[in-house]
Amino acid sequence: MNIVLGVTGGIAAYKAAHIVRILKEAGHSVRVVPTESALRFVGAPTWEALSGQAVQTDVFTRVEDVEHVLIGQEADLVLIAPATADSLARIRAGIADDLLTATVLTTTAPVVVAPAMHTEMWFNPATVDNVIVLRSRGVHVLEPASGRLTGADSGPGRLPEPQEIVDFALSVHREAAAQSASGLLAGRRVFISAGGTREPLDPVRFLGNRSSGKQGAALAAAAHRAGAEVCLASANIDSSILASLPTGIDIREVETTAQLESVCREQAAQADIVIMAAAVADYRPAQTAGHKMKKDGDAGLTIELVQNPDILAGLVENRREGQTIVGFAAETGSPETSAAEMARQKIVRKRCDLLVFNDVSGGKTFGHDTTSVEVLALTDTGAVGLGDFTGDKADVSVSVMDTIAKHAVE
Ligand SMILES: Cc1cc2nc3c(=O)[nH]c(=O)nc-3n(C[C@H](O)[C@H](O)[C@H](O)COP(=O)(O)O)c2cc1C
Repeated sequence: MNIVLGVTGGIAAYKAAHIVRILKEAGHSVRVVPTESALRFVGAPTWEALSGQAVQTDVFTRVEDVEHVLIGQEADLVLIAPATADSLARIRAGIADDLLTATVLTTTAPVVVAPAMHTEMWFNPATVDNVIVLRSRGVHVLEPASGRLTGADSGPGRLPEPQEIVDFALSVHREAAAQSASGLLAGRRVFISAGGTREPLDPVRFLGNRSSGKQGAALAAAAHRAGAEVCLASANIDSSILASLPTGIDIREVETTAQLESVCREQAAQADIVIMAAAVADYRPAQTAGHKMKKDGDAGLTIELVQNPDILAGLVENRREGQTIVGFAAETGSPETSAAEMARQKIVRKRCDLLVFNDVSGGKTFGHDTTSVEVLALTDTGAVGLGDFTGDKADVSVSVMDTIAKHAVE
């Protein structure tokens, strides 16, 4: 997600460095926009080094990119921490005399503000009034903490801890994204397969893969929140993940590819949107031993594998009128072909409407709470990107579901 972090000229500006760290580590792109005063507390090199992006304070630098409009337009979330009494007043008044206030005026993304100032400034009627007006306009103003302030005094006005600010800001974004998708899928049936299939070798061993099913389960939750009737085929997803899903999702548990195929066929026949997020085994053992296989001296073991059916290909072949089929591609790439190029080739080859691609090279994604995906759409001329989403799997799923839903109901 593209996050703009506004930093204004308060003593707590140094704490914003930690906020940049937390957001970057969660995989977000962070553009720091400090005020002139903020740079008197913490210099531009700190922000540039931590964020990996250029820093400027005024609207007259890099004019060719029209940044005073562009930064706000491209933002998914604008967070201002710390926000001075002065910045609250300027934002309330609609003043746009620097890059940060211009960005706030142009963005349609959620705006989260974390004020920090002396208690007297916080309780001054002017500030109280500014906060009331900002909240009434939909700006999310975090209540300051109480504690040690600049100098010896203490009281309400202290900047909350960086992690608390980040958690609040991300929850605001999640809520806003869910609101935007809410009702979009009312009356639609969505079928999602998730997890990873297992092919038994004997009663205790199997050939499997590293897919946890977190992403697919989060997609099912997002589709449910968007108003859809949801069926989730769960291929070996941990029960704690399934238990966290909202009630009302029809969960069908499967183990093998053959079992998954049978549920997919049955459910796809009634679904408006089919999302194949499960990691399906391409091969299964030709024979499954009826009892636990024993080691045979020092001899090695050769297992014959046979191909499993291509479930996605079968669904595309039997596609219902108006049905949207979404494939998933977890690619590592190869020395000759990048992971992104492989995904583009896959959507053209598989002829599904959309493809959610993630780069899983180097152990990225599997089993983690964060992910980075690109949604591709198939057109007459090949694959086109509909959006890149990075962050917590739950947040990414809301954005991906929103993209799928908008494409499907178009
Ligand atoms: C040492 C020092 C600490 C300050 N701390 C704060 C503060 O925590 N909160 C605040 O609202 N203003 C604080 N100020 C005042 C702001 O820096 C001043 O209002 C400035 O104009 C804010 O500019 P900006 O809102 O464009 O960043 C402080 C000033 C100084 C000199």
